[in-house]
Amino acid sequence: MDKNNTQEIIQKEKDFVLPTYTRLPFVLTSGKGSYVYDNEGNQYLDFGAGIAVSALGHCDDEVVNAIQQQAHTLSHVCNLYHSEPHAHLAEKLCQHSFADKVFFSNSGAEAVEAALKFARKYAHTKYGEGKTRLVAFSNGFHGRTFGALSVTDREKYQAPFRPLVPDVEIIPLNDIEAARTAIDDNTCAVIVEAVQGEGGIFPASEEFLLTLRASCTRHGALLIMDEIQTGFGRTGKLWAHQHTSVQPDIMTLAKALGGGLPMGATLMTDAVAACIEVGDHGSTFGGGPVAAAAALVVLERTQRQDMLDHVLEMSAYLTSEITALQLPQVVAIRSHGLMIGIELDCKAKPFYETAHHYGILLLTAGPNVIRLLPPLTITKVEIDQFIQAFVRMISGVKP
Ligand SMILES: Cc1ncc(COP(=O)(O)O)c(C=O)c1O
Repeated sequence: MDKNNTQEIIQKEKDFVLPTYTRLPFVLTSGKGSYVYDNEGNQYLDFGAGIAVSALGHCDDEVVNAIQQQAHTLSHVCNLYHSEPHAHLAEKLCQHSFADKVFFSNSGAEAVEAALKFARKYAHTKYGEGKTRLVAFSNGFHGRTFGALSVTDREKYQAPFRPLVPDVEIIPLNDIEAARTAIDDNTCAVIVEAVQGEGGIFPASEEFLLTLRASCTRHGALLIMDEIQTGFGRTGKLWAHQHTSVQPDIMTLAKALGGGLPMGATLMTDAVAACIEVGDHGSTFGGGPVAAAAALVVLERTQRQDMLDHVLEMSAYLTSEITALQLPQVVAIRSHGLMIGIELDCKAKPFYETAHHYGILLLTAGPNVIRLLPPLTITKVEIDQFIQAFVRMISGVKP
């Protein structure tokens, strides 16, 4: 296709799509593995993976087959009926985690929304009125629906939409004393990312997570781990909290889960599930057979030890290659598997905006951090290609 066509599509989006995002000026039409292609035939090495969605790369053969087969057989079953992919996926997620029960939805924010509702219901059922406080952390991100936004520490995102869900307290991440003080008998749940993604790739320390676990247990509050960005092998373990000995009561999943199809999941222990009754929550599409069929492939592939070893090997290689560049703008590199933050002494957004001219796609996290989330299947050859383009971009060599 030609440039005119690109401009027509961009104009049409400007005319008809609500501008809640600024989009980069090209039109993506296909993808395979670690690469995506625009409608003018340009190739981009995708180090954003659709914001941690395409863990197995784009159009993975097994995922595509699973989707095609299920779409031919039965593409939608609402939750008034039983369906096999839904049942299998719930079983496998429980087998591969601390959880006993799963609720399926269609996005990360919905998975968080469900987690917050289940926590409120648990507290209400077990302890009665008044135990409603939610504790969340500075710089954390959990989504943009009302509940998820209420526990997301972003003044700019929250301000126009107040009043939000009440009784939320935001405290500094990794501040053990603040956590001990904030979590009390009025706390219903604490929600935390093992590694903050949108916030700039900041990990919660093991000591801090142990404190949260102990305080929650002491005060009858639930610990919710938001693994929407960190889950499915992204950090080198299937779930990022498995780098520690901490077990949550609830875990939220989305992004990589559906293999590119929209899907969210809220996993919980039997103790939480015992407080939830028919009608307490729902979703027309949640756990639909096509997304579940794709998710079964994603879970099977990302839980394998060889995949997790590959993530750690590629993480070490990519991190050492970036470090070796000794770029003057780089203040710090934070690597957690294939979730890598490169903190700069300047704004990161201009690099995000120009990377495509160098044939690469990357993300930011906060004002000064370049965020890399390549597919977990990335290879050394692709990393070498990325590094060559990255150094030219960051050094201002003309594309
Ligand atoms: C940790 C975390 N939680 C929740 C969300 C919200 O997910 P979604 O955009 O699918 O609603 C995100 C998205 O970036 C996330 O990174």
